[in-house]
Amino acid sequence: MSNDLKGKVAFITGAAHGQGRATAILLAKQGVHIAAFDLAQTLKYPGYELGNENELVSLRKECESHGVTCLLFTGDVRVDDDIAQAVIKTIEQFKRIDILFNNAGICAYGYAQDITEQEWDIMLDINLKGAWLVARRIIPVMIDQHDGVIINNSSIAGLRGMNRLSHYAASKWGLTGLTKSWAIELAPHNIRVVSIHPTGVNTPMNDGLAALEGLTAKEIAERSAGNLLPVPWIEPEDVAEAVVFLASAKSRYVTGSQLVLDAGLLTR
Ligand SMILES: NC(=O)c1ccc[n+]([C@@H]2O[C@H](COP(=O)([O-])OP(=O)(O)OC[C@H]3O[C@@H](n4cnc5c(N)ncnc54)[C@H](O)[C@@H]3O)[C@@H](O)[C@H]2O)c1
Repeated sequence: MSNDLKGKVAFITGAAHGQGRATAILLAKQGVHIAAFDLAQTLKYPGYELGNENELVSLRKECESHGVTCLLFTGDVRVDDDIAQAVIKTIEQFKRIDILFNNAGICAYGYAQDITEQEWDIMLDINLKGAWLVARRIIPVMIDQHDGVIINNSSIAGLRGMNRLSHYAASKWGLTGLTKSWAIELAPHNIRVVSIHPTGVNTPMNDGLAALEGLTAKEIAERSAGNLLPVPWIEPEDVAEAVVFLASAKSRYVTGSQLVLDAGLLTR
């Protein structure tokens, strides 16, 4: 158990299921209070199932079984008012925010010439602009504390090109740029900023994308066939372990960095 995390507060976007949920639970096990923010409804684009209210309620139950408080917020990372209200209520309750996990995101396939302008905007607004909208409400809190860590969930798509995923890759490269730039801006305030770059992760996103392609998640993984280690994907708990490490004092001098969780994919 990372004792330095006990009593800290994490604000997690996209917390209802997948990587955000696994991370909320692992942080709660370390004694971290959770502010869980999620859209909790499915969007026409990308079309696969996003998180829902029941998942949020069961997340709170699971986190609180570890002796911490878990606040739930239904909102959209594209809507500043949703974010501002959630941050105000989190501060009212806990008086601080130590960890921001900018994790909410969507994915969808499409060749550049086929993606509509609206699809491009939705992708970039959620994955990239949303991360900034959330961070800009939390950075002042962290500056006042002279302490904090921001972890942006990018992807291997934030470090390489991706077939039929150019708008997704653009959003994820954008997160890499935000990470490096915020690390420079915030280091004087003792705030670290890092990004993580998972290969395929076994989450509802993976299942949803496979269904849209008319394939199983395993077939999609075989199609990309990039991992060096003989696994089709990694688990959301693997991502959660990395986030806990990056949030803890064990990584106190890690900032501006990209932590690659790719089972060796980028080494090919
Ligand atoms: N699954 C993968 O293979 C994979 C690999 C690398 C990186 N990622 C990235 O990791 C992050 C988490 O992905 P996941 O696999 O857990 O996906 P997921 O679809 O399983 O979960 C994403 C969560 O984000 C929420 N969300 C989506 N749009 C939102 C919005 N506008 N406002 C608030 N919440 C919103 C959803 O409701 C859902 O609960 C994403 O940013 C994704 O791009 C995923």
